[in-house]
Amino acid sequence: MRVDRYAVIGHPIEHSRSPAIHRMFAAQTGHPIEYRKLLAPLDGFKAAVQEWFDHGGKGLNVTLPFKVEAYALADRSSARAQAAGAANVLALGPEGVLADNTDGAGLIHDIEHRLKLSIKGAAVLLLGAGGAARGVVQPMLDAGAGGIHLANRTPERAFELASHFRNSVGNRITSGDLRTLPKGMDLVINATSSGLSSGASPIEADALEGATLAYDMVYGERATPFMLAAERAGLPMISDGLGMLVEQAAESFLIWRGIRPDSVPVYESLRMELNPSGDLTK
Ligand code: ATR
Repeated sequence: MRVDRYAVIGHPIEHSRSPAIHRMFAAQTGHPIEYRKLLAPLDGFKAAVQEWFDHGGKGLNVTLPFKVEAYALADRSSARAQAAGAANVLALGPEGVLADNTDGAGLIHDIEHRLKLSIKGAAVLLLGAGGAARGVVQPMLDAGAGGIHLANRTPERAFELASHFRNSVGNRITSGDLRTLPKGMDLVINATSSGLSSGASPIEADALEGATLAYDMVYGERATPFMLAAERAGLPMISDGLGMLVEQAAESFLIWRGIRPDSVPVYESLRMELNPSGDLTK
């Protein structure tokens, strides 16, 4: 039987959970695939991708810091990769390499299916204006968010990001800094790397009061400073980004294999392994 080969490429890459996720998807769907980690040199991403596809590789997931480069090198790109200006999936097809971005779809699926919150009409506060934030704005708008406020430490970056979308959605998208935040937000999503870089939440607990969900796009063995701030503010639902990780992988599998695996048992298995108490949703 022919075994198709896939990998996740990044720098660093040793802690990636993607191989474990895709092996579970393969077992579940009966698709005979191989999936490994690929470390690319910081200045050698393009060559590593070329080599992978030249030697029979069928697809790649792309992680930090190469998502923008992945988008740039592809022969074709999906509308959602274009909106993000970045790609986390590359797929080899008859017309060359296709770049896609499943991060936003993964986040939306996790919020709507696992957490069972509707994005339609919701007031969304999105913290950050880097690649992680950029990937989720269009999918949030497409899912019917009532409004999105982009708040960033450097407000000019948030303004610039909002400007990309303002032509099409007008004042459904606004921007500002991390100190003057609008009240009455339903969903607050942390797309900054603040917890990783400073060990602190990007916003104070009192700025979160009244929201339904605080969602941190990162995950790890412990709750993040942002999640702990949300806990102090008494939010009813608090989540790390483990579900988003599994869902973006399920969407990648769909692109490559034409079938969307059942993400629920895979999420549950990873949750037990990583941090059984990491999901603070009450
Ligand atoms: P990524 O692709 O992961 O989004 P990035 O493009 O480097 O990475 O963006 C990191 C984001 O985290 C930015 O929004 C950054 O804010 P600035 O634009 O002001 O740099 C934000 N960030 C990083 N460290 C932060 C901190 N200590 N407090 C608040 N925001 C922080």
